[in-house]
Amino acid sequence: MLLEANNHRLYMARSNQQFFPAKFVGSPFRLLTWVIIAISFIYTTYTLSLLYYSSSLSFNQPSPVSTGEGEPTALRHIVFGIAASENLWKTRKNYIKLWYHPNRTRGVVWLDKPVSLTISDRALLPPIKISSDTTRFPFTNPTGHRSAIRISRIISETLALNFTDVRWFVMCDDDTVFLPDNLVGVLADYDHRQYYYIGTSSESHYQNINFSNRMAYGGGGFAISHALAVLLSKNLDSCIHRYPTLYGSDERIQACMAELGVPLTRHSGFHQYDVYGEIFGLLAAHPVVPLVSFHHLDLLSPVFPKHTRVGGLKKIFQGPVSLDSAGVMQQSICYDVDGNWTVGVAWGYSVQIVKGVVSPRTMEIPIRTFLHWSNNWDNYAYAFTTRGLPLDHCKRPIVYYLMSSMLDEKTNMTVTKYGNPQRLLFIGSDHICDETPVEEMVVYKLRDPDIWKRTPRRNCCKVEKKNKKMNIHVGVCRDGDYEEMMKLQ
Ligand SMILES: *[C@@H]1O[C@H](CO)[C@@H](O)[C@H](O)[C@H]1NC(C)=O
Ligand SMILES: *[C@@H]1O[C@H](CO)[C@@H](O)[C@H](O)[C@H]1NC(C)=O
Ligand SMILES: *[C@@H]1O[C@H](CO)[C@@H](O)[C@H](O)[C@H]1NC(C)=O
Ligand SMILES: *[C@@H]1O[C@H](CO)[C@@H](O)[C@H](O)[C@H]1NC(C)=O
Ligand SMILES: *[C@@H]1O[C@H](CO)[C@@H](O)[C@H](O)[C@H]1NC(C)=O
Repeated sequence: MLLEANNHRLYMARSNQQFFPAKFVGSPFRLLTWVIIAISFIYTTYTLSLLYYSSSLSFNQPSPVSTGEGEPTALRHIVFGIAASENLWKTRKNYIKLWYHPNRTRGVVWLDKPVSLTISDRALLPPIKISSDTTRFPFTNPTGHRSAIRISRIISETLALNFTDVRWFVMCDDDTVFLPDNLVGVLADYDHRQYYYIGTSSESHYQNINFSNRMAYGGGGFAISHALAVLLSKNLDSCIHRYPTLYGSDERIQACMAELGVPLTRHSGFHQYDVYGEIFGLLAAHPVVPLVSFHHLDLLSPVFPKHTRVGGLKKIFQGPVSLDSAGVMQQSICYDVDGNWTVGVAWGYSVQIVKGVVSPRTMEIPIRTFLHWSNNWDNYAYAFTTRGLPLDHCKRPIVYYLMSSMLDEKTNMTVTKYGNPQRLLFIGSDHICDETPVEEMVVYKLRDPDIWKRTPRRNCCKVEKKNKKMNIHVGVCRDGDYEEMMKLQ
């Protein structure tokens, strides 16, 4: 969902309900929110002296590179159109800084009003433009916001900037976070001279029913091939006139795509993340596709405990994403026979252990650590299979979060360490569970940038326990790995 409109859609969903069920509204969540607000306030005040208006700035545009048509699609062939609004800019710009590299990436942030920029903003963010006036367009949706029209037009306004050598326009929100190299890998499989509209629908069944399951949800980001952008832009304004009753910008784009007869090409690496609460369940059981985007991070707990939202993601970007972007979040499953543990690795993020032998079939299913938009823990609201958390806290997985990551020059292997073990969503202190058997997990993995050029297949892993440490070797499955794993069941 795009931005203001998006927030409205959200408020609508939770208008007469609490954000979290009573037990969640407890101090840790509320406290964290206030701490974040306080930190943002201090930061804003501190940078006030550096502020001035963006309209007077000229940015360094990466110089266009002339390319042959036959050359594989690279990051420089993509132009991002980022939908933003002045009122949320101060916090949202920090998400853009996580993934946007001015020297590698091309894009434009489209705002409703000018904003103040710090020196670091100017060095790290895309150029900023103010969307043109849209008051001539009708908008009659009772709950939506007319900024949806402005945001639908980002595609034609970005096309009109005449960037050279563009193969793909990628639309997103200011709280969308991409793994740019993984996005390139996905788009390189499609011919930009044909008509392609690539993205994904919502995790929320209700969203897909009430809005559309044939549209690319804007917050997860979506890609439009150059040929399609040209075709769409010719018809976009008249098309927008025909759909005044629709809610969001992404719905309008889909309506126009339907007129053109271009269906959504689904890719499950884009993530709208229409959920609340703890994100672990979704990340630790990522489908076997490259992770392309995250969204709605303001509604979810930080990816790591004791980190800010941006700080946690920064740790993943500076470490695993820069080491081996293609492998980030990829799950592998193995067994510690002596200890009677099932081990689940989500590379670059976490390792979990569960007592007993849990089949891969089950480990692949996301645990509902998150809530759906009716603020409920049940399983009815999702467009995919989920499983519940064991009610007995001591039977919940023990989770180890990423502590450090590096490349061992001698072995040419990535070494990622995971620690700070805790039972998943352990609430209350009256539960006495068995002692945590391992303090630290060390995962060794070769970089494998071409993993997605082969048939999709989950990596295999092997464990080796030494006192309070577990070494885990992750890599391409070899003959015999499968048989060895199945013997345990
Ligand atoms: C969507 O549909 C569901 C079920 O039909 C309904 O309960 C819900 O209130 C609707 N609205 C939203 C925003 O989910
Ligand atoms: C981009 O490149 C310029 C020139 O090489 C350099 O001065 C600048 O620091 C780079 N910016 C970033 C964010 O790396
Ligand atoms: C882009 O190209 C078109 C057609 O050549 C031209 O009319 C327009 O002024 C150009 N726009 C910009 C921003 O240079
Ligand atoms: C392994 O753990 C499971 C689950 O706690 C238990 O049912 C099973 O008996 C254990 N197996 C062994 C060999 O200890
Ligand atoms: C190290 O691994 C990378 C990625 O797999 C590979 O491209 C490179 O050739 C390897 N280097 C050596 C010295 O083996």
